Amino acid sequence: MQWPDCDAKVSSSIGVFDSGVGGLTVLRAIKDQLPLENLVYVADSGHAPYGERTPDFIIDRCRVIGSFLYAQPVKALVMACNTASVLAIEKLRAEFDIPIVGIEPAIKPASSVTRSGVVGVLATSRTLQSVGVQKLCDLYGQNVEILLQPCPGLVECIENSSLTSKDTRELLEGFVQPLVDAKADTIVLGCTHYPFVREVIQDIAGSDVTVIEPGAAVARQLSRRLNELQLNRESQPPVPKDKQVNHVGSVCDQQGAIRFYSTGEPKMASDVMSSLWGEAVRVEALTSAVT
Ligand code: DGL
Repeated sequence: MQWPDCDAKVSSSIGVFDSGVGGLTVLRAIKDQLPLENLVYVADSGHAPYGERTPDFIIDRCRVIGSFLYAQPVKALVMACNTASVLAIEKLRAEFDIPIVGIEPAIKPASSVTRSGVVGVLATSRTLQSVGVQKLCDLYGQNVEILLQPCPGLVECIENSSLTSKDTRELLEGFVQPLVDAKADTIVLGCTHYPFVREVIQDIAGSDVTVIEPGAAVARQLSRRLNELQLNRESQPPVPKDKQVNHVGSVCDQQGAIRFYSTGEPKMASDVMSSLWGEAVRVEALTSAVT
């Protein structure tokens, strides 16, 4: 990617994407930790869930969305999706010459905080079947029992913004209760959609169980990478008030701007993303080349 100058690169956006709305939990952590950064989020809700799709399909979607974001241009890419990261991160790193930060289930930290010696991992079937998760289990499962629990149907509930319904709770009880019965005292949320139902999970598991969600760790890793490459907007000198512009050229305060895109049905994408983000957001539809 050719940049007109270094300032243009530093002030350009960070691309964040997920199979759908789940990556908003990571976007929130990035926004909290790096409030000056401009962000572009793509929800591939038109193709969610990825969790039961073939690896080829998921890799192809990551390439299409990665290309769209790369062309914005963005200075870094965050794959805010465990399923996509475990399958496609190396391929994207080979194709795009920008830093790419991914996400994997937090089995390592969970194995160091468990007191009962039993850790439960909630994630998609595709994530749990991956070589990456197998490696994590081999590395950190020596003295700890790691229980892998796929959660089919859960992403669909969250894509429909059905977070606290009776059906969602019953589905979650079927996933969480067996982990608690097996004495898991630490539960890893290995899918970025699941923090949206964290309270229900905690309620089923009980207050003694530690629930680990990954957004903040991903944001820290992104910040480290940007610092290493001197691309962190936070470390730049403050911009004089009269010179503050956002990445689309309009005057703004020092807060970064966020653009939201979705491949889902536009009205539903807007409603669900606004509700999950906690304020009304304008969601742009993606062009046919991306959908
Ligand atoms: N949010 C995703 C993850 O972290 C994927 C969910 C899905 O589409 O199945 O794995």
